[in-house]
Amino acid sequence: SAAEKGGWDSFMDKEIHEDPAAVQRTLLGRLNRNGDLNLDEVHIDEHDFKAVDKIIVIACGTASYAGMVAKYAIEHWVRIPVEVELAHEFRYRDPILTPRTLVVAISQSGETMDTLMALRHAREQGSKVLAICNTQGASIPRESDAVLYTHAGPEVAVASTKAFVAQITAAYLLGLYLAQVKGAMFRDEIHQVLDSLKHMPAKIQWVIDTQSGTISDAAKRMVDAKSFLFLGRHVGYPVALEGALKLKEIAYTFTEGFAAGELKHGPIALVDDGEPVVFIVPPERGRNVLHAKVISGIEEVRARGAFVIAVAEKGDPDVERYADVVFWRPQCPTLMSPLVDVVPLQLFAMDMAKLKGYDVDKPRNLAKSVTVE
Ligand code: G6P
Repeated sequence: SAAEKGGWDSFMDKEIHEDPAAVQRTLLGRLNRNGDLNLDEVHIDEHDFKAVDKIIVIACGTASYAGMVAKYAIEHWVRIPVEVELAHEFRYRDPILTPRTLVVAISQSGETMDTLMALRHAREQGSKVLAICNTQGASIPRESDAVLYTHAGPEVAVASTKAFVAQITAAYLLGLYLAQVKGAMFRDEIHQVLDSLKHMPAKIQWVIDTQSGTISDAAKRMVDAKSFLFLGRHVGYPVALEGALKLKEIAYTFTEGFAAGELKHGPIALVDDGEPVVFIVPPERGRNVLHAKVISGIEEVRARGAFVIAVAEKGDPDVERYADVVFWRPQCPTLMSPLVDVVPLQLFAMDMAKLKGYDVDKPRNLAKSVTVE
């Protein structure tokens, strides 16, 4: 009903506008009196956490992209390998699981059968499972050894939005927790990262408040496009995959996401006159070596006539020069950028779907929670 949508004309609209709150609420009350981080329901000894020598994230869809983002941060902070695997591929290939492997199951609903079966397999092999879940008491958290809840609030629209930013936030908290337990970071460093995380809701809000007009204008210009490419590097790569997924899920536009470095290894063959290409441009120009590489990718597709849409840091002069349309983000550290960068892509997909007259909350052929294998 209209009341449930809180005045918005779709749940998706409402839920995108709850992105800032989803991050904020997931961060709430995580530090105890000693300044240590705590998770939610943990039935894993600190001793076992200390012994963890590998993480495997299992998830499907959007949740798997949140896991991919987390891999970059956790490997950087904790210095242990993180694999990310689609839950339905996982148990059928005899994965290497030991008691020192921490399996992290990410699921908004907590009822995705593929993820549940993968989790059961991991536990049978003696690994500990930690769930990152948005639904209190769902099957996946119930069957896990530990739970870290995302406090995004109920998500109704089939296409996941606020749950994604909350999942990244929660997975980052897990990374910091492991860094704390394993002594991989100083407490000051952990608190610094927490501080950056706390600044993210306001930055997301800035994007919603200042970029929505540009985004809907871009959607109007692009509504007849037959296909889109989404490209990004490092944490921008899973963001590109998620942006592409949103657009195919609800606007039924053929889209593919790629790692921008792959451009010359194949996807550039698809680029010709007027082909829309969305680039996630890393922040920290001059300090992040990947910034220049992504800019040169933009130049390459431009030279072949592509229409370039960029998500980039406010005032980035290289982007000003080469992109046709820019969705700006405020300044933030590279590892924080996915939390803001996905937001314009969510809005863009929603605007495109609405312009095409589709029901953005209930796309054809898709279910909110897939409870069959
Ligand atoms: C379905 C939904 C997706 C979601 C995926 C995983 O395919 O349509 O939006 O990302 O399931 O769902 P989960 O509840 O496990 O996060």
